[in-house]
Amino acid sequence: MAIYLVTGAAGFIGSSIAEALLERGETVRGLDNLSSGKIENVQPLMARGLEFVEGDIRSSADCARACRGVEFIFHQAALPSVPKSVIDPVKSHQSNIDGTLNILMAARDAKVRRIIYAGSSSAYGDTPTLPKHEEMKPSPISPYAVQKLCGELYMQSFTQVYGLETVTIRYFNVFGPRQDPTSAYSGVLARFTTQMLEGSEPTIFGDGLQSRDFTYISNVIDGNLRAVAAPAERVSGKVFNVATAEQISLIQAAEELRRITGYTGPIRYAEDREGDVKHSLADITAAKEAFGYQPTVSFAHGLEKTVLWYQQQEQLAHSGR
Ligand code: UD1
Repeated sequence: MAIYLVTGAAGFIGSSIAEALLERGETVRGLDNLSSGKIENVQPLMARGLEFVEGDIRSSADCARACRGVEFIFHQAALPSVPKSVIDPVKSHQSNIDGTLNILMAARDAKVRRIIYAGSSSAYGDTPTLPKHEEMKPSPISPYAVQKLCGELYMQSFTQVYGLETVTIRYFNVFGPRQDPTSAYSGVLARFTTQMLEGSEPTIFGDGLQSRDFTYISNVIDGNLRAVAAPAERVSGKVFNVATAEQISLIQAAEELRRITGYTGPIRYAEDREGDVKHSLADITAAKEAFGYQPTVSFAHGLEKTVLWYQQQEQLAHSGR
């Protein structure tokens, strides 16, 4: 039976993909160095059969160990933060570019059939055209965006040069259960949700009119599972947007969250964040045509599910005290 490897399996998106694969009865191995991923995310999956390898994509030996006998890889491991990459571009380069090349080398040597790579909408940068489609010339701003784009190009190169099947999925601001809200660099919806539930004041960087195509996690999982199963001639060596195709401003997102959480306190405004893109919205036609991708959970419904999950976590923490 095929072995699936998920890199970054202890992270928000990686653990969600691993869980979906286990639910389908697949054999799944997870690789993570537990730097930003959490062991609590993989423990329940290990109980359901996940083979967990603690290791680092910056180590070729760890990548080789993780790729042994594998047929499909979901490469999710990364340092996924625009501001972190602005503060320390070298550190994020090592995970996002060197680590990706290590995984590709190990995959090539282990004769892996296909890699699905976690690309990023940040590759489009601040170009005025909306929605963003895959034919547009990339225009990355932050070091993070450059790194994620470089990973895509490496994927395409390995398809052309070594015949490894690769598919890049460009994510658009993914959110949902298990996203870590605790860091200053956490995704904005995870931060705002937990801040509002705790009754502490969220901060909007800039005027709040910036917009994002916030994508609920189950849509992203569906996109990944479709991409791994699609015929090679339709997807290999290609890049696809996977998003909701809804443009939501930060102010709108905050208002929606107020409605769901019941938060009535103030919202603070602060300086624009460096490296930020103003607007982001996906054209998802290519993914629809190539592998039948269609978002099934809207932004508003996804937000409701997400708030409910954080509320349950809070209740569990209280009952365990
Ligand atoms: C970017 C990418 C996204 C990628 C993510 C990885 C774009 C368009 N999107 O997300 O695909 O997955 O990096 O980290 O480049 N903000 C606040 N207050 C906060 C936190 C954030 O106002 O407390 C603002 C930010 O300044 C930004 C927006 O919210 O304008 C979204 O920020 P964030 O959630 O960090 O994601 P992006 O940087 O957009």
